[in-house]
Amino acid sequence: MTSANVRVPAKINLCLGVGPVRDDGYHPLATVYQAVDLHDEVRATAREDGEITVVVHADLDARTEAADVPEDDDNLAVKAARLLRDRTGVDLGVDLAIRKVIPVAGGMAGGSADAAAALVACNEAWGTGLSRAALEVLAAKLGSDVPFLLHGGNAVGGGRGETISPVLARGSYHWVFAMAHQGLSTAAVYAEFDRLNAGSTVADPQVPDALLAALRAGDAVALGEALSNDLTEAALSLRPELEDTLEIGIEAGALGAILSGSGPTALFLASDEQHALDIAFALGSAAGCADVVQSRGPVPGARLS
Ligand code: C5P
Repeated sequence: MTSANVRVPAKINLCLGVGPVRDDGYHPLATVYQAVDLHDEVRATAREDGEITVVVHADLDARTEAADVPEDDDNLAVKAARLLRDRTGVDLGVDLAIRKVIPVAGGMAGGSADAAAALVACNEAWGTGLSRAALEVLAAKLGSDVPFLLHGGNAVGGGRGETISPVLARGSYHWVFAMAHQGLSTAAVYAEFDRLNAGSTVADPQVPDALLAALRAGDAVALGEALSNDLTEAALSLRPELEDTLEIGIEAGALGAILSGSGPTALFLASDEQHALDIAFALGSAAGCADVVQSRGPVPGARLS
């Protein structure tokens, strides 16, 4: 039967502006996404009998607990396959094999990445031939970050994160990621954001001009200064030890330090490879840090490999 293999990156948010909770429970976002060189892989093998199965493997050196990823219909990659099947009316099934490297519940959209990859892989293995634009419509139904993971590169995210538009950007950036021992639930961090802001007026979010200017210029120092994340207070309220991790990276000279999305992964911008190595070395002493990874961004979105 026909197989297809897809590589999909993790995402970080260079800024994450969060507005007041909407009636549907989601929060309006103004964000700039960047896809980074930390990839999961999804292999889809079509099957005649209509069954949809999933297995999850973590590499020996992977920074992730594959055991935390559901191997049933709760898996977002399975939901992606079902959605594509409903949309196209194909009567085939699929075996999905996921190789996980992106941390689980780390604020880097690992589950969403697998959903984006499954859409592309099943579309190929089933020969359903949907365009990228049609896949993006399905992606938005699966989760707020899924359309960006199809797209990759850099992009502005609006709506609840699912509407993406291009951003003028140049440069390749050196990142250091500090993975925490335990994941954080995105929903729990947003709920904490609401609790902390109860009774006060939350402004509509905006992408800072300084961040857009830094990206246009390819200026890493200015980008480091412009990094921002409105979920910081909520994530630190749930995980106070992350403050130490951020502090250690800043003391090691990072150009900027923030949490990735809803956390708990912390990200640090370095000026070059050697600087990244120095920051990574310093983070080795952070008690809250389970693993440190150097990476680059931007990279392309979900692609056949
Ligand atoms: O869209 P996704 O399923 O990835 O979102 C996971 C959870 O994060 C949502 O159920 C919601 O609680 C929260 N969320 C939010 N506002 C957003 C995105 C996510 O409140 N813009």
